[in-house]
Amino acid sequence: AHHVVGIKIANKSLSTVLHDFEGIQIADHEVALEESVFEADALADEVSKAIEGLTSTAGLSAEEVSGVGVGIAGTVDALQGFVYWSPSLHQRNVELGQVLEDRLGVPVFLDNDANLVAVAERAFGLAKENSDFIVITIESGVGMGIVIGNELYRGNRGCGAELGHTKVQLDGALCRCGQRGCLEAYVADYALLREAGISGRHKSVSKVEDLLSAARDGDSVAKSIVDRAGRMFAMGLANIVNIFDPELIILSGEQMHSDHLYASEVIDAMRNSVVHIDKPGPEVVIHKWGDLMWARGAAAFALDEVSEIAITG
Ligand code: BGC
Ligand code: NA
Ligand code: ZN
Repeated sequence: AHHVVGIKIANKSLSTVLHDFEGIQIADHEVALEESVFEADALADEVSKAIEGLTSTAGLSAEEVSGVGVGIAGTVDALQGFVYWSPSLHQRNVELGQVLEDRLGVPVFLDNDANLVAVAERAFGLAKENSDFIVITIESGVGMGIVIGNELYRGNRGCGAELGHTKVQLDGALCRCGQRGCLEAYVADYALLREAGISGRHKSVSKVEDLLSAARDGDSVAKSIVDRAGRMFAMGLANIVNIFDPELIILSGEQMHSDHLYASEVIDAMRNSVVHIDKPGPEVVIHKWGDLMWARGAAAFALDEVSEIAITG
């Protein structure tokens, strides 16, 4: 034993990482997925294969893994290992933690994916010194992790910190959660691609990266799509600041990798929509660290839980 695995279930891939009990990264491994939505059993198969790939890369046997942390998008009760809804699952209300434990034969600790980015920022990243901070992720969805007083804030049912589904528009755009007017329905990858599809000029654009680079090159249609998303995102950020007044906000996720065209404008717009306070607001940093970081957060979470079990028996 004496190792833990962390996994991020992404839109079309699984990123895995192996840590020792000191939190040192031993190996990592990424596999592409054919689909992005699964039955729970099929997802468990993919996770199991990915872990085999990881341990064989590291030259370890499965017995040397003491626990597995898993980050998944959606409303998750981490303590119960229960998924109410996830864009990665066909079913609702799934005991995914149990399904995975049955398949893997080791303790599994499940949490919302973005929550685990906050765990990673605290353990290995930019928030080592911060007891109160917020992480926001933008890619296939908009995610959030809130740390208050050194603790991850999960909410009563474990489903808080769903920034992506806070409402920014009455009767607005359709979100992947099925509701309308959610922030992510304007900002996430699928929202930008939907707008590109409607636009005519960028009908055939299939990667957000391409739309962002067209905007960066001055294409007016691409620019207006990205600008609108930026202004919507600024609203979301301003709401966060007005509610939490955090000391640090970390912007993360794939969309932030492309030197987000609207990053500085977004931060200005956010500052202008915060209730007037004559003192500088939160530090906002963009942290470019890919899927591996989410997986490392999952590993850190697993290590924490495994140690807890070891202590309390
Ligand atoms: C989900 C969140 C998730 C985020 C990033 C959103 O659509 O509702 O739970 O954290 O996407 O994956
Ligand atoms: Na979250
Ligand atoms: Zn939604």
